Amino acid sequence: VAPDSLRALAANIGLRMGTAVIPFDLDHPDYQAIVAGQFSVVTPGNEMKWQVVEPTQGTFDWSGADRLVAFAEQHGQLVRGHTLLWHSQLPAWLTSGVDNGTISNAQLRDLLHQHIITEVSRYKGRIWQWDVANEFFTDSNPSTINPNDFWVSHLGTGVIADAFRWAHQADPHALLFYNDYNIAGEDGTNAKSDAVFAWLRQMLAQGVPINGVGDQGHLDTQYGFSGTQMTQDLQRYASLGLKVAITEADVRTFVNNATDQVPTDHLATFAQPDEFGQMLKGCLALRQCISFTVWGFGDADSWVPGFFTGEGYETIYDVNLQPKPAYTELQQELALAGSGAPHRTGGGF
Ligand code: G3I
Repeated sequence: VAPDSLRALAANIGLRMGTAVIPFDLDHPDYQAIVAGQFSVVTPGNEMKWQVVEPTQGTFDWSGADRLVAFAEQHGQLVRGHTLLWHSQLPAWLTSGVDNGTISNAQLRDLLHQHIITEVSRYKGRIWQWDVANEFFTDSNPSTINPNDFWVSHLGTGVIADAFRWAHQADPHALLFYNDYNIAGEDGTNAKSDAVFAWLRQMLAQGVPINGVGDQGHLDTQYGFSGTQMTQDLQRYASLGLKVAITEADVRTFVNNATDQVPTDHLATFAQPDEFGQMLKGCLALRQCISFTVWGFGDADSWVPGFFTGEGYETIYDVNLQPKPAYTELQQELALAGSGAPHRTGGGF
């Protein structure tokens, strides 16, 4: 591993640098070399989601997840498991069964319990952090647990705590995370952060086994972003005794077209790396921030154009897998943190 790689620079300061990976893209040598050379923790972008692992009831496909876990172990990397309880990317047999009444709420709860036990047990001892529950809070002000969420509407809010209990039973040593977007001030109001903080404090008081908070970190240059606010919010979670992590960092902007992904506003070419750098600094400011993960590393492999029309350019490598200014920004921040900048006082982890 090159000493100026992201993973080596981060190792000097007790941080893991991560990326989401599409396991079958590891067939491409250039892609594989970047995953192995630059990152020390990997997340399957889709391949541990219920829709992928159990496409037909009782028929499992672990091929992508198995491949990534094995790759990580061969390359001295840890794994973030993603994600056990989420309203999205559920198998059609499950959602249609609930819709047409052939799956009752009691059966739904049993199926979820079984799903979590099966998946967490399969990778027991091999997952560093699990994103147990994902995206349960509304974007409104004030924010609350979304009463219309698929799981909450059928099983009540208590299902979230149960998911953590079941995951903990299946793998007592994995760090169990609550993961969400806009929970470190990115919404400008801090409403979602306030709601998640209050809920976490309540869950911890009840003894629910939650070990960490993942802030996804999906930014867009057209909105404001405050690294200072992020740091304060992360510190507030850490004050509860939790680890924190940036779990899905990317910074999108408007582009000329989805093939070349050249920003249409030239100022975005400065804002994009700057916001990446501010997020990393937000994490570096506290030693409880144990990993910084980007949501994929090549603009060609992007989820963004499919979700946000006209946008792209959100990763740290361009469409030809060449490092962009955002890569250099992260590299420089890590190098500075390792050479005496006043970060991460109090020791590593
Ligand atoms: O696999 C099918 C393929 O067979 C089909 O031809 C194609 C046609 O659309 O779709 C493929 O499935 C896509 C899947 O990604 C795999 O590529 C889905 O349409 C697409 O919706 C799905 O998007 C994923 C998205 O979650 C779903 O919400 C993205 O790849 C994934 O990066 C994204 O990740 C989420 C995190 O899990 C949670 N936080 C937000 C983040 C970004 O949305």
